[in-house]
Amino acid sequence: MNIGEYLQEKKEVVDRALEKYLPKETEFPSTLHKAIRHSLFDGGKRIRPILSIAAFEAVGGKGDGILPFACALEMIHTYSLIHDDLPAIDNDDYRRGKLTCHKVFGEAIGILAGDALLTEAFKLMAARQLHEGLRHDGSLILGIINEVAQAAGVLGMIGGQVVDIESEGKEVDFSTVQYIHTHKTGALILASIRTGAKLGSANQETLKAFTRYGERIGLAFQIVDDILNVEGKAHLLGKKTGSDLSKGKATYPSVLGLEESKRRANELLDLAVEALGPFGTEVDPLREIARFIIAREY
Ligand code: IPE
Ligand code: IPE
Ligand code: MG
Ligand code: MG
Repeated sequence: MNIGEYLQEKKEVVDRALEKYLPKETEFPSTLHKAIRHSLFDGGKRIRPILSIAAFEAVGGKGDGILPFACALEMIHTYSLIHDDLPAIDNDDYRRGKLTCHKVFGEAIGILAGDALLTEAFKLMAARQLHEGLRHDGSLILGIINEVAQAAGVLGMIGGQVVDIESEGKEVDFSTVQYIHTHKTGALILASIRTGAKLGSANQETLKAFTRYGERIGLAFQIVDDILNVEGKAHLLGKKTGSDLSKGKATYPSVLGLEESKRRANELLDLAVEALGPFGTEVDPLREIARFIIAREY
């Protein structure tokens, strides 16, 4: 398979669905919708929704029933980026190749655009009329919404963001950076894969294997983000490089060094692919996405 084409094709599917689910810029209050769309569109790899779709299809899921959930995960992710870039958190001016939301619309609208995306994400997952294509009763859907909430909340992403902020400028040990990475980034990536697998009616054994895969690529994703902050190219990444060092962020390279960080990222890739060992070509997209995550330049 050609992973570049696959990612592009799925990204277009996700973007069309996001376009459909969100109010137009012309709707009142238009500042809000402009701010949301500024951050959401024209940039962003859509890795989380694509992982959901890939997991869903790998276990035999068919149709569009996955899309509200895939889009909700992207909305939660985009909200997290808008808030992550705020002056009180990472204070970044560029994201997805453009000025950050608060730089264009001001901090108040940045905060509210993030709040809106988070809330709309849960509204979308809970919209019963969109569950028709899925063969599930409400309890499986409720379980998924609960799992996504856990991944995004105090036990997941927000917990990781808090420790990230509290570790700035400090010397931290490996277990702290591991907590940060598995929570601020790994949790939502894992939830994306598990959401797709569960909606596609994966059996327990498959769900277990996909969970191991997801834990490994979730952590690897943030290690690579750290590495790219050191030696990536800002024009490819669409965001500033060198900032982790200047802010004294707790990163894999700051704790283990660049070479060891690369070695661990590659080791996690091997382990992620190994977790998919018993499966056939139906998991090729997941295998290739794992390789893309490690080799990416953006
Ligand atoms: C960046 O995520 C922030 C992290 C959690 C590492 P992505 O690298 O997925 O950013 P986009 O969505 O492509 O902009
Ligand atoms: C982002 O982590 C994690 C979340 C937004 C939850 P970083 O702060 O390391 O990501 P970038 O480098 O700004 O994209
Ligand atoms: Mg951050
Ligand atoms: Mg940041």
